[in-house]
Amino acid sequence: MYTRGYIVSEGGARTECITFGPLSVLPEFEARGIGSLLVRESLKRAAELGYRAVLIMGNPRYYGRFGFVPASRYGIHLGDGVPEDGAPFFMAKELYPGALESLSGRYELDKYFEVDQEELEEFDKRFPPKTKEVREGQIHRAR
Ligand SMILES: CC(C)(COP(=O)(O)OP(=O)(O)OC[C@H]1O[C@@H](n2cnc3c(N)ncnc32)[C@H](O)[C@@H]1OP(=O)(O)O)[C@@H](O)C(=O)NCCC(=O)NCCS
Repeated sequence: MYTRGYIVSEGGARTECITFGPLSVLPEFEARGIGSLLVRESLKRAAELGYRAVLIMGNPRYYGRFGFVPASRYGIHLGDGVPEDGAPFFMAKELYPGALESLSGRYELDKYFEVDQEELEEFDKRFPPKTKEVREGQIHRAR
């Protein structure tokens, strides 16, 4: 699933980009190229639709193969409260050459990602219990 986001410059100018994730493939179907196909096909369609760039949170070992590089290379960051060790996992990919060259600033995710923790806990109760983990690269904002 893709959502819209904005690179907000120091002067407050907002430039639309897109984000995808989470991406997941059922364990029994992993390592058959399904994840790669979803990423490559959706990036192709996003480019055809005229989007500028894709910014994601993901493991560089996986997303590097699709041309994602650390967003810090373009001076794009997630803003205050994001620990330094999360930075390599915030990655960017231009959908046409030079798309991010003249841009820098803070990346603002869609409001969709702002969840009420209590509401979320209630929602999760509708499903069989699972152990919650914080995985490598998962960004936890200090609020
Ligand atoms: C990541 C995921 C979507 C990949 O889907 P997939 O269909 O298995 O991927 P592909 O078959 O296209 O590619 C397999 C490759 O991905 C690598 N890979 C899988 N998960 C990885 C991870 N978390 N970190 C680094 N590499 C990973 C495999 O080692 C394999 O590498 P290889 O091609 O060098 O052998 C899938 O493993 C998954 O659902 N993982 C759990 C959810 C998750 O962590 N999602 C990513 C964060 S949003």
